[in-house]
Amino acid sequence: MHESIHDVLIIGSGAAGLSLALRLPRELRIALISKRGIEEGNTLYAQGGISAVLDESDSIESHIQDTLEAGAGLCDEGTVRTVVEQGPEAIRWLQRTGVEFTRENTALHLTREGGHSHRRVVHAADATGRALEFTLVDQVRARDNVEILEHHIAIDLITRNRPNGGKTCLGAYVLDIRADRVRTFRARFTALATGGASKVYLYTSNPDVATGDGTAMAWRAGCRVANMEFMQFHPTCLYHPKAKSFLISEALRGEGAKLLLPDGSRFMERFDPRAELAPRDIVARAIDHEMKRLGADHLYLDISHKPAEFIREHFPTIHQRCLEFGIDITREPIPIVPAAHYTCGGVVSDRHARTDIDRLYAIGETAYTGLHGANRMASNSLLECLVFGKLATDDIIARQADTPPPPEVAPWDESRVGNPDERVVVSHNWDELRRFMWDYVGIVRSTKRLARAERRCNLLRHEIREYYGNFRVNNDLLELRNLVDVAGMIIASARRRKESRGLHYVLDFPRRDDHHQRHPTILFPDSYSPR
Ligand code: FAD
Ligand code: SIN
Repeated sequence: MHESIHDVLIIGSGAAGLSLALRLPRELRIALISKRGIEEGNTLYAQGGISAVLDESDSIESHIQDTLEAGAGLCDEGTVRTVVEQGPEAIRWLQRTGVEFTRENTALHLTREGGHSHRRVVHAADATGRALEFTLVDQVRARDNVEILEHHIAIDLITRNRPNGGKTCLGAYVLDIRADRVRTFRARFTALATGGASKVYLYTSNPDVATGDGTAMAWRAGCRVANMEFMQFHPTCLYHPKAKSFLISEALRGEGAKLLLPDGSRFMERFDPRAELAPRDIVARAIDHEMKRLGADHLYLDISHKPAEFIREHFPTIHQRCLEFGIDITREPIPIVPAAHYTCGGVVSDRHARTDIDRLYAIGETAYTGLHGANRMASNSLLECLVFGKLATDDIIARQADTPPPPEVAPWDESRVGNPDERVVVSHNWDELRRFMWDYVGIVRSTKRLARAERRCNLLRHEIREYYGNFRVNNDLLELRNLVDVAGMIIASARRRKESRGLHYVLDFPRRDDHHQRHPTILFPDSYSPR
């Protein structure tokens, strides 16, 4: 069978996709597709936790203010309020679903991270994402109405023009990677929950799946995409030749860890009065500045002044992983570097998670909802996944009675393509793309570097499109095609923003320009087209 029909097609099985699958009524037939094993994705690796107002000394207004402040003037205040207000319910839902959070006596233990003025981060030691992902996957596996399809990668959305303008989404073409055949999934509703795009950079905290597929698919189908210049770099990833992508949670700084130069001195107070607990953009830039000033290839994070027992209890995963690399964090500082971590921009979606295409939703890291503005505050991301999973559910329930099944669609056509001749084209272009994005579109940018990146990106995009047009698809080609489209969006958005704000810092425009630039960067489908 090359064709399937469902009520809801969910593309992606992280916090966003799983919470949508679990919240939807059991009468709906759901396909949940995931391009690797079901657990793989950013959610699995989340460490610090989930922010929500759960303590009497804290308040909704304070969480809102902190989020707005971190977002550097670009958050959508209505979205921020919606998400923050629904935070406590989202945590209670997770608890009801079976997620076990760290407790202190009878209450949930709350930790602190950069930008938060209160302790409000609920967590499962330092492996919150693991606890969440495994629990939700267990629950979803127990649902008869959810068909789980692992090792299935969505290629493109299937859309049809509406008589009165606009488009309707009817499902997606999906490559069954193991069977090496393309299947057609038709659905009444489709949700993109494909996560972020940080793999566009050479160094990242993200796993390999973070290739911006949802954003690229939605863009190609005709959705607006916003704020792609705001790529977040996490200040502290482990610096070790063999430690690919391992994050050292901001919660260490929340519990008192200090950033140090190679000579052992502190430096963050020179950059911000909040020192190590300043928002992430400020800390990452300060580290980048000091590394460049000193010609150092890494700096240090030190928590060894805390009791060893406290460190082992609160940070068991980080402690163990560092030990595997010969670093005992209870006795010595941890070598760290910043790395690409989070995609603040994405597919424009409203407070029901609806996109510009009818019956197409975008939730989680792939969406742009206005919550994060120019810089996401720590631990607000999992919260957004959960809240928008609920909002999309409510909208689908409200619309389902009036939404007919999808009509017939054209089958996938492979009649004019051959087998790939030289796979080296894909691996070479993949490396080149990630390297020039790191060098020219990283933590500190300049007009000249962005222009260089744009020229290279256009060349690559042209080459990859030609290759895509001539050969049968495979996973690597599909991911590279998406990465190069997303890279183009990041560069185009960065070139438009002629100021420095939040995560976007340009040497030629070092100041924030509230007068002319206090608005999101929206790429309309016809305003930025691959050349
Ligand atoms: P993901 O969890 O990334 O899931 C995406 C899913 O989509 C995956 O299943 C993937 O296989 C699938 N997919 C992608 N493309 C396709 C395709 N074409 N076809 C089929 N399937 C596809 N945030 C916090 O709030 N708190 C934290 O403590 C925290 N810590 C973090 C630590 C690390 C190391 C990282 C990397 C991120 C962290 N974040 C944290 C960010 C947060 O984890 C993510 O933003 C969040 O998990 C995103 O969830 P998601 O469901 O949108 O995407
Ligand atoms: C961390 O634990 O430092 C990551 C938190 C986040 O990205 O929100």
